[in-house]
Amino acid sequence: MHNAGKKESQEGQTQFDIHKTLILLKPDTIARGIVGDIISRLERKSLKIVGMKFITMTEKLLVEHYGHHSEKPYFPKIVKYMTDGPVLAMVIEGIDAVRQVRMMCGATDPQFAAPGTIRGDHSCVIDYNLVHASDSIDSADIEISRFFKPEEVFEYSKNVYVN
Ligand code: CMP
Repeated sequence: MHNAGKKESQEGQTQFDIHKTLILLKPDTIARGIVGDIISRLERKSLKIVGMKFITMTEKLLVEHYGHHSEKPYFPKIVKYMTDGPVLAMVIEGIDAVRQVRMMCGATDPQFAAPGTIRGDHSCVIDYNLVHASDSIDSADIEISRFFKPEEVFEYSKNVYVN
């Protein structure tokens, strides 16, 4: 069994790996008004939004981002879908963030996504699967730098205003 980003210090304290990951809220998410629901889910899970902006997807960016899909017959559908409106890109930071965000998204094909996940709760079709999330720590690093300049990713402490 993997350690899910958790290890124990010599003093017996549990230590967690903090990662950053990228999530893209695709044009249907914005058009359907479920951005708030997705942000609430991330915040409820104590994940931190450290970068967020609207982007316009271009075919060039999509070929770079979805390079491994660019020869697939469905690639023209991806281009039409992803360029149909604004995409909201977010950098999410937290414990084991890459895996946590992927689990919250659910299976790529919403038809098989578990209830309680973003795709499982809001979609039934692969053509409109609402979100993209980085699938590994290495691809998260690459994908974050594809969409965000270093100065667009912020550092701040949570809960400093709570008495
Ligand atoms: P995403 O998680 O962003 O990663 C690749 C994307 O390709 C996927 O979500 C879908 O939007 C799209 N995709 C993968 N398989 C298919 C398919 N069979 N038909 C249409 N789109 C697909």
